[in-house]
Amino acid sequence: MSATTGSFSIGDTTVTMPVKTGSIGPSVVDIGKLYASTGMFTYDPGFTSTASCESSITYIDGDEGVLLYRGYPIDQIAEQGDFLETAYLLLYGELPSPTQKKDFDYRITRHTMVHEQMARFFQGLRRDSHPMAVLCASVGALSAFYHDSTDISDPKQRMVASFRLIGKMPTLAAMAYKYSLGQPFIYPKNDLDYSSNFLRMCYAVPCEDYKISSVFARALDRIFILHADHEQNASTSTVRLAGSSGANPFACIAAGVACLWGPAHGGANEAALKMLMEIGTVENIPKFIARAKDKNDPFRLMGFGHRVYKNYDPRAKIMQRTCYEVLNELGIKDSPLLEVAMALEKIALSDEYFIEKKLYPNIDFYSGITLKAMGFPVSMFTVLFAVARTAGWIAQWKEMIEDPSQKIGRPRQLYVGAPKRDYVPISARA
Ligand code: ACO
Repeated sequence: MSATTGSFSIGDTTVTMPVKTGSIGPSVVDIGKLYASTGMFTYDPGFTSTASCESSITYIDGDEGVLLYRGYPIDQIAEQGDFLETAYLLLYGELPSPTQKKDFDYRITRHTMVHEQMARFFQGLRRDSHPMAVLCASVGALSAFYHDSTDISDPKQRMVASFRLIGKMPTLAAMAYKYSLGQPFIYPKNDLDYSSNFLRMCYAVPCEDYKISSVFARALDRIFILHADHEQNASTSTVRLAGSSGANPFACIAAGVACLWGPAHGGANEAALKMLMEIGTVENIPKFIARAKDKNDPFRLMGFGHRVYKNYDPRAKIMQRTCYEVLNELGIKDSPLLEVAMALEKIALSDEYFIEKKLYPNIDFYSGITLKAMGFPVSMFTVLFAVARTAGWIAQWKEMIEDPSQKIGRPRQLYVGAPKRDYVPISARA
């Protein structure tokens, strides 16, 4: 990172601030001393122009449609790597050697079981709870079960907590699913790879054998890779903000799960699939396009648009291919949903409104169809996203804790409320 300075004027005052340059991407103006020199704060709701931290984990070029994990393009990782290799890369910064990979897989696999008392914890939750509510509660509860890895100042405890979270997240997610069905929990099986194990925990029942489809396992693994990290998005920033106060990693990841649940973030694939079902047939598409363009209608084309990508989301292309592979495995030649999705994509991409606003399909556009075809109910979509994103959340949390310049996150505000006024006793109020 190199640093120069830049000057700008506010009224009659000229301020000079350091300009920091990263390895790639836009430089940043370090405004840390702005208040001291001008008495003013900056104002940027939604952080559209604000870098909240330095990070060397993930890089996005939204205009070019580029996503890199530790410098490696997402398509190369998704085609050639696996999810645990991706998690290792995010955590440690480099691809593992064969020995390191074997050791990492072993460690994560040995942390897949959860405390037996967790099963009873689930029973306190309503059977019809949304699985994200169950996941939020159970991940948060991990801090009550694993006290020996909550001291964030101890690097060993930080690492154990990371292994525990990546290892146990699929187990908790599958338990949330099984609980909603009223089926018994299926224990993890350590001779299976991460994604096959998750499929088995979700779909196996004790009374018969479950045959794991290698195409499904590969598709799920790819979905996990594509969702593993995405720079300083809302849930990752939530994890960092929670962690900045020194909160333990299980509590921080629970905060991330809560943020991910929102329809503008992790809930978008659920919303995209519901929208495709609502559209129903290709003939209805123009009606929905017109609604999306109508300023007086709050309707938006779900699965379109992204805060950062102003080009095709690079993950969407891989997701589209994966979607075909899954449908092909199932022998589905004519999927009405896929037909609507492809026609909608084509129409939207040639529409002036979407072109002008640079609204392209995002990853959620095809992931919903894929997950539905694999048998996951819509309510589980964001849960699967959370399983994958745990790797990124933990890597980002660890990076923040290990950054010597780290301090508690504490934004400022532009106060627009009542100025100071005197309290009026209730007896004197009309
Ligand atoms: N359909 C129709 N119009 C849209 C859409 C859409 N999906 N997305 C944005 N626009 C329009 C807005 O109305 C706005 O128009 P205006 O300039 O006339 O006011 C303009 O495009 C810019 O939109 P913003 O909301 O300001 O853009 P922002 O970067 O804040 O929002 C977001 C990005 C939230 C993703 C938005 O595009 C959206 O709501 N998309 C649908 C939900 C979705 O698919 N979310 C998934 C995100 S990916 C992820 O989380 C993994």
